[in-house]
Amino acid sequence: MTTPLRLGIAGLGTVGVGIVRIVQKHSTLLATRAGRPIEIVAVSARSKTKNRDVDLSKYEWEDNPVSLAKRADIDVFIEVMGGHEGPAKDATEAAIASGKDIVSANKALLAIHGQALAETAEQAGRVIRFEAAVAGGIPVVKSMTEGLAGNEITRVMGVMNGSCNYILTRMEDAGLSYDAVFDEANQLGYLEADPELDVGGIDAGHKLALLSAIAFGTQVDFDAVELEGIGSVTIEDIHQAADMGYKIKLLGVAQMTGRGLEQRMSPCLVPDTSPLGQLQGGTNMVVLEGDAVTQIVLRGPGAGEGPTASAVMGDVMDIARGLRVSTFGQPAKTLRKARAARAAVAAPYYLRMQLIDKPGALAKVAHALGEAGISIDRMRQYGHEDTAAPVLIVTHKTTRTALEEALADFKATGVVTCDPVAIRIEAV
Ligand code: NAP
Ligand code: HSE
Repeated sequence: MTTPLRLGIAGLGTVGVGIVRIVQKHSTLLATRAGRPIEIVAVSARSKTKNRDVDLSKYEWEDNPVSLAKRADIDVFIEVMGGHEGPAKDATEAAIASGKDIVSANKALLAIHGQALAETAEQAGRVIRFEAAVAGGIPVVKSMTEGLAGNEITRVMGVMNGSCNYILTRMEDAGLSYDAVFDEANQLGYLEADPELDVGGIDAGHKLALLSAIAFGTQVDFDAVELEGIGSVTIEDIHQAADMGYKIKLLGVAQMTGRGLEQRMSPCLVPDTSPLGQLQGGTNMVVLEGDAVTQIVLRGPGAGEGPTASAVMGDVMDIARGLRVSTFGQPAKTLRKARAARAAVAAPYYLRMQLIDKPGALAKVAHALGEAGISIDRMRQYGHEDTAAPVLIVTHKTTRTALEEALADFKATGVVTCDPVAIRIEAV
C-alpha cells in the first residue's frame, strides 16, 4: 500500500472549493499519475455552517487555520484564504515550523513575505509552491523554474490581471467610459473586494514581482515595482490608439538593465496585431524571453475556480511525485538584492494634449520636445474646435526622464490647456 499525500486546506472560497472538487472528481486519475493517493484530511474556513455546494463531511474541521497548519496528520498545507498578514501569514509560518510543505495561491503574501518564507522553508527542508498565485491556470512558474531553467531570462512581460483587461477591452468594444465599465465589472463581481487591488495595478504588480525573482535570481521586491493603474485611461485614448494600430493594455514588464532591475506595471500601447494586442476579456498572457529559447507566449484563464484550482493541483502533484524545486527556482539564500532601476529602457511615447488654437502653439510644443532631446516620429491634429486643437504626437525612443522634462516644459509654454496624456509604447 503506497503512502497517501495528506492535504489540509485553509480557505473554502472560490479556489478552496475548486480544489476539493478536483480531488473528489479525479481521485483515481490523481493517484495513478502520482503513484500514490491524494487525500484531503482537514479543512478550515471562517464559517463551518456556510453551504459551499460540496461534500465536506469526510474531512476534519478546524476553526483556526493555524491549528490546521500544525496537525500531525497532514503533509501539505494549502493556503487559499488570502491577505498578506494575519491568518494567512501566521498559518503558513506555523505549517513550515511543523514540517509541512506549502502550496499557496496568495500572491500578496508571497510578494511581500516571499523571501523570508522561502528562506525559512528551505532551512527546514520544506518547499513552497505558488503556481496559482500568478496568472491563474497558466503554468508560468513551472515553465520558468523547469522548462526554461537552461536559459538566461532577458525579459518578462504580461497581462496578468484579468479584470483590468476585461475593463479595457469592454471600453473599446462598447465605446464606454472607464467609469461606466468599472461599475459594470463591479456589479458582475469581477473585481476584488477592494477594487483598487485590480485597477490600481497592485494585484498584477504582486505577480510581476514574483516572476522577476525567478527570472533574474533576485529577492522578490514588490516595493520596487513602478505601479500605475488603469483609472486614467480614457475612451478617447483607446480610440486614438486604435486608429494608429495600437491597443492599450495594463502591461507588466521586468528586465535587468545596466542600471538595475526595472519592474513596471502600467498602461502601455502595444501593436494591435501582436499576441498581447489581441488579448480579449479576462484572459491573461505572459511573454517570456530567454537567450536560448528566444520568445514564448503563454495564454490562458487568469482566474476562476477551475483554472486556479488546476494550478494548485499541479503543485500538489509535484510534491506527491517527490519533485522539490526551490520556491524561486534557486536556493533562497542565493537570491541577490537587486538595485531598482526606474524605466531605464528607452521607448517611444504616445502623447495627447489640447493646444490653444493660436499661431506658433504647435511650434512651442515641438521646441520643448527638441530641447529635451526628444524627436517626433508622427504628429496629428484632429477634431479641431474653435478654441482648442487636440494634438497627438508619437515620439521616437526616449527616456522617461527626458519625457518628464518635456512635459514640465509644456506647462511653461502657456499653450497646453490641460495635463497631457503620456503612454509608453512597448516593443513586444
Ligand atoms: P474567497 O472566495 O474570498 O475565499 C476565501 C476563503 O478563506 C473563504 O472560505 C473564507 O472563509 C476563508 N477565510 C478567510 N479568512 C479566514 C480566516 N481568518 N480563517 C479561516 N478561513 C478564512 O477567496 P478566493 O477567491 O478563493 O482566493 C483565495 C486566494 O487565492 C487569495 O489569495 C487569492 O488572491 C488567490 N487567487 C484567487 C483567484 C480567483 O480566481 N479567485 C485566482 C488566483 C489567486 P468563509 O468562506 O467562511 O468566509
Ligand atoms: N483579480 C485578479 C484578476 C484575480 O482579475 O486577475 C486573479 O488573481
